[in-house]
Amino acid sequence: MARLFWRGSALFRPSVATLTTLGVLGTTYHTTGVAHADNNGALEENSAYLGVSQTTSRRRTAIEPFPFGKNRDVIWTHPQASAFSATVEGDTGIARIDSLTLSNKAWSEDFVALRSVSVSGLTKDALSTNWSLVSLTNGFSGSRISLELSKIINNAVLDGLTTNLHEYVKPNSETEFTDVETSPYPTEPYEEAVNRIIKSYFVAIDTAFTEDPLKEALSSGKKADAIRPQSVALSGCSAILSLYDSSAKQLRIALTGDSRALLGRPLKNKDGSKSYEVHVLTADQTIQPSSPHASVIAQAKLPHPVSRAFGVASLKWGREIQQRLHEEYLGDRPFLPTTTAEPPYITAEPVITSISIKPGDFLVLGSAGLWKSLTNEEIVGLLGVWVDRGMINADTNVVERLSSSELLNPRDLPVAGRSAKVVKGDSDDGTTMYRRWRTKKQFVCVDHNAGLHLARNALGGSDQDLTAALLSMSPPRAALFRDNISATVVFFDD
Ligand SMILES: *[C@@H]1O[C@H](CO)[C@@H](O)[C@H](O)[C@H]1NC(C)=O
Ligand SMILES: *[C@@H]1O[C@H](CO)[C@@H](O)[C@H](O)[C@H]1NC(C)=O
Repeated sequence: MARLFWRGSALFRPSVATLTTLGVLGTTYHTTGVAHADNNGALEENSAYLGVSQTTSRRRTAIEPFPFGKNRDVIWTHPQASAFSATVEGDTGIARIDSLTLSNKAWSEDFVALRSVSVSGLTKDALSTNWSLVSLTNGFSGSRISLELSKIINNAVLDGLTTNLHEYVKPNSETEFTDVETSPYPTEPYEEAVNRIIKSYFVAIDTAFTEDPLKEALSSGKKADAIRPQSVALSGCSAILSLYDSSAKQLRIALTGDSRALLGRPLKNKDGSKSYEVHVLTADQTIQPSSPHASVIAQAKLPHPVSRAFGVASLKWGREIQQRLHEEYLGDRPFLPTTTAEPPYITAEPVITSISIKPGDFLVLGSAGLWKSLTNEEIVGLLGVWVDRGMINADTNVVERLSSSELLNPRDLPVAGRSAKVVKGDSDDGTTMYRRWRTKKQFVCVDHNAGLHLARNALGGSDQDLTAALLSMSPPRAALFRDNISATVVFFDD
């Protein structure tokens, strides 16, 4: 299916002239059942594409009921969980990437993709560097846009940068540029050019999903040809992409939707102890009264009330085309909001932020579901404990450690400058899941994978009975008690 979007579009054909792909080394993949084989297939297609299988969705494998085997951890072995730890070959400035996704349905629409490349002649000063891209796509309201997007987003952004940045790159010697007037270089600053290119490629990818295949189908005039493009275009997806430049030590985050990025930064306290600063790198793009077309988007009643998204073509297609799809191609009834404004009402253009990376920093990319259980401070604090205890080198025997684990109070996590609410131990911390489960937060640090560590603490923490109960629920009931959880953690070099 991905081929449909590659064909006929020069946009996503990788131009690798200046890029050398660095392999993903020492990766341990963990998925269950059929997912594993399929992941391998996906990896062949794109050297570092990782995610939950497509076959799971096709076969709709029944969820394994309880009980799980004696020594099998309930999250790690869950049929809807997919996890990996990866180290990247080469001097990328990234020590390790850990990830876990867990869906509340029989299949998952959350995918993680990695790509790391050596780059020369594309940075401001024409030096060489390594770029690492990590993207997380979180699908909602059905179908496969999330998977298709995950397969191409890193490559498309890289392609955009390689084909468009050359003219911004100044040779090493500054002296050549004394004559600004005759300088062949654009006046737009390099940083802004990078952001503009990423933005335009996000939008172009979205168009390639929502417009191009549909046009192709309509020109064929066959109903059958229009079914698949409609279901892809009408489904929705949030995407977050991080791009790390190892020479500049600069991290850039592009967000479309309601996923979130956080950075944890170690600090040495005066008394010699360590704590972690919380940097929130994105603003959730949920509909606010002030956002454009807020009331129109609200009328669409999306499962995620986002103000930006990939797909969701009912908010992008014109009424005429929706009417035509409805009349002639078994399409949905047109979405007719009470407004005089013309679509599109929603965009896939990302908001981009950047931050300079310091030794020991870590980045968390997570889906909205993670933050329904844990606050930003808890997430950074939990990872702080995980780092301080050297869990990065722990073996995989989670079950054994669980049986003797020490409990962690949210207030005792090593977080710098925590908010008054946290200091007071206020249970109304803005998260909802623990209140729904009628239980207090108590955490544990037992996992060898940082994504799994976050997921466990977002699903009951030290309360193993609760975790097991939540994970033994089947859809659709599961969705009432646990949200989809994706947590990817990128550890930068010390
Ligand atoms: C990028 O990675 C390659 C491969 O390991 C390494 O040889 C090179 O020094 C790195 N470049 C930079 C600028 O760090
Ligand atoms: C959870 O994931 C499933 C499939 O992965 C998706 O269909 C559903 O819309 C997601 N729910 C939310 C609230 O994101």
